[in-house]
Amino acid sequence: MEAAEKKEISVENEAVDKSIFKDCSKIAFYRRHKQRLSKKSTYRALLNSVTTGKDSTRFQIINEAAKVSLLAEVYGIEGNIFRLKINEETPLKPRYEVPDVLTNKPSTVRLTSCSGDTGSLVLANGKGDLKCHITANPFKIDLVSEEEVVMSINSLGQLYFEQLQIPLNQRATKENEEDASVDNTQENQEELGLWEEKFGKFVDVKVNGPASIGLDFSLHGFEHLYGIPQHAESHQLKNTSDGDAYRLYNLDVYGYKIHNKMGIYGSVPYLLAHKLGRTLGIFWLNASETLVEINTEPAVKYTLTQMGPVAAKQKVGSRTDVHWMSESGIIDVFLLTGPTPSDVFKQYSYLTGTQAMPPLFSLGYHQCRWNYEDEQDVKAVDAGFDEHDIPYDVMWLDIEHTEGKRYFTWDKKRFPNPQRMQELLRSKKRKLVVISDPHIKIDPNYSVYAKAKEQGFFVRNHEGGDFEGVCWPGLSSYLDFTNPKVREWYSSLFAFSVYQGSTDILYIWNDMNEPSVFRGPEQTMQKNAIHHGNWEHRELHNIYGFYQQMATAEGLIQRSKGKERPFVLTRSFFAGSQKYGAVWTGDNRAKWSYLKISIPMLLTLSVTGISFCGADVGGFDGNPEAELLVRWYQAGAYQPFFRGHATRNTKRREPWLFGEEHTRLIREAIRERYALLPYWYSLFYSAHVASLPVMRPLWVEFPDELKTFGVEDEFMLGSALLVHPVTEPKATVVDVFLPGSNEVWYDSKTFAHWEGACVIKIPVALDTEQYELHYTENDFRCQLSNLEETLPFIYLNPSCL
Ligand code: NOJ
Repeated sequence: MEAAEKKEISVENEAVDKSIFKDCSKIAFYRRHKQRLSKKSTYRALLNSVTTGKDSTRFQIINEAAKVSLLAEVYGIEGNIFRLKINEETPLKPRYEVPDVLTNKPSTVRLTSCSGDTGSLVLANGKGDLKCHITANPFKIDLVSEEEVVMSINSLGQLYFEQLQIPLNQRATKENEEDASVDNTQENQEELGLWEEKFGKFVDVKVNGPASIGLDFSLHGFEHLYGIPQHAESHQLKNTSDGDAYRLYNLDVYGYKIHNKMGIYGSVPYLLAHKLGRTLGIFWLNASETLVEINTEPAVKYTLTQMGPVAAKQKVGSRTDVHWMSESGIIDVFLLTGPTPSDVFKQYSYLTGTQAMPPLFSLGYHQCRWNYEDEQDVKAVDAGFDEHDIPYDVMWLDIEHTEGKRYFTWDKKRFPNPQRMQELLRSKKRKLVVISDPHIKIDPNYSVYAKAKEQGFFVRNHEGGDFEGVCWPGLSSYLDFTNPKVREWYSSLFAFSVYQGSTDILYIWNDMNEPSVFRGPEQTMQKNAIHHGNWEHRELHNIYGFYQQMATAEGLIQRSKGKERPFVLTRSFFAGSQKYGAVWTGDNRAKWSYLKISIPMLLTLSVTGISFCGADVGGFDGNPEAELLVRWYQAGAYQPFFRGHATRNTKRREPWLFGEEHTRLIREAIRERYALLPYWYSLFYSAHVASLPVMRPLWVEFPDELKTFGVEDEFMLGSALLVHPVTEPKATVVDVFLPGSNEVWYDSKTFAHWEGACVIKIPVALDTEQYELHYTENDFRCQLSNLEETLPFIYLNPSCL
């Protein structure tokens, strides 16, 4: 290993170094929101300016103190969705609006205006059961469903919109300087980070100046919120305190801390709120750095006050306030009105697409390691599975399979004959996945680099040259996947004739696509790097990885002339990534706490549309003891993407290396996965066609049972299986909560049965693999589409499983 490479690896291996990553206090737009909001200045809607177009109703909103005039547009969208867009009326230049996430232009439904006094405006959907009640002064919108206010927007007055300004040095007159409410002292300028923001040795120079936005949403009667991945946190969102907002900023955080709200690899700016009788969703379509504050006011007991009965009653209900803040872009928010969890899933997938139907093999077990060293190693590991009678479907090769981390090439010494190796795997009906990262080694003799350079396909730095940053290969440039031409070209690299040594059993893994830039600010790209269309990286940071996976999936489809269903795993993701493949939770650790947190992390991904998700089995960093490894296999076998993976300085841990007994237990766990493959496949089909998550929190299946709302140590697979993995060392007993007072639950191994709505104590030994129980009422019938590799017809009756 070269010295430079060793250094980079140790950079990745450092325990999470707090000084590398920002907390809220280090984020200038967060400080500005706090400072400005403490000064309370309100917006007023000019309802006499209302115009009703074909798709939307528009009106101005103004803030006199900040001299801001904004344009609001309200759209009614098919399927009980409202969209609210707020932008500057006449921005100095266009502000970024996230493209390519909405599956197609959502069909609008005409809203009728039912009240017209100057102080308010009521817009109703066709049936009239959903209304947007807009109050002029102060500006506020209430979302009313069947006469009940379910959500209020800007009722806390947190609407904040920084207008684009002419840079200080280009201003002609004094009058144009900052608005009067801003303190212009040098100290305050630095604190506010308007045109320049420092973090450690990094200086972010902002040519467009401050451009952040924010808005509050009050959810009436709601105390349970979920979503906004990715955080190593509980499934149910927690209250944030000052300086502790959930951050959505895609970052490469090796061995991330758990129970932490810092942003890690991917972002879906979408949350769900649930209460008895209603589920709602808020989808904040913005790809810049975003912060979300949550504050639940629990229900207060009714006390006799001097208030009239109506006011007193309102005080009784609980409420959760959600405050979204983004560094730039516009306010473009979709309100998904439910009312049921499955309605909200449908509404969200109507906007962003459903889970791609995975090829069947990808639902089996995957064996990965950084790295399987050479062809011999691959052969030996592959043979090991046969020898030990353990099923597996996919062998994985990490970065070392390439010639010096030049993706689309093979290290000639280690893998002299990649086709021969794939033929061996093919003979056993197995597949191969290889890695392809977005950084491209700067080497004029590397054809991928030379061609991309020639065509101007790299992200540029703010001076106009190609952006250069360090990653695995050393100095690299980064493909600008936001450019459709780059995506088209990148897709073409997967053609069999172009990708030498590839065959039709080879699939792809996109990693480091936050993007990860060693020694960059927070290990990522400078925010003032420039993308296609002259957009700054800050505008679209969170969607960079999404585009790489999109181009890769398209490449795999094209290489088979549209016949093949692709398999692409990505580390970074955004809303809608489900359309392109699978996601995993990155560099976790071989610790019990990481096994445990994999459940809420995957549940959160699942309810935000990304059903095909998993965590590295065994834990990526560190060496799991045999018991932990067995428990992890037992849990992973019941999680959607099932892959064993480990980093390079760990001990080998193929399933047969821990003695006969542990081998037997791992074999059993993996076999259970295979026994249920038809069920998994059917569940993915339901996710694909009917938007239902594969892995479901209990509240989704039992939305009328308050007790399920906070459960996150067990989950449902579809609606037939309840899974409660063992996540504690030396466990002798597990408390399993069985929901559903009308349900009967069966232990899938012993066939012991219980009525629901109770907690049972189940004694466990290491070979008590799992508690998966099913109830009787479901009958799954699933006619599959004509896609490749389909099982023509699957009929599953859970009571016979
Ligand atoms: C980081 C990824 O998270 C990990 O899974 C992979 O093994 C290394 N990069 C090397 O490619």
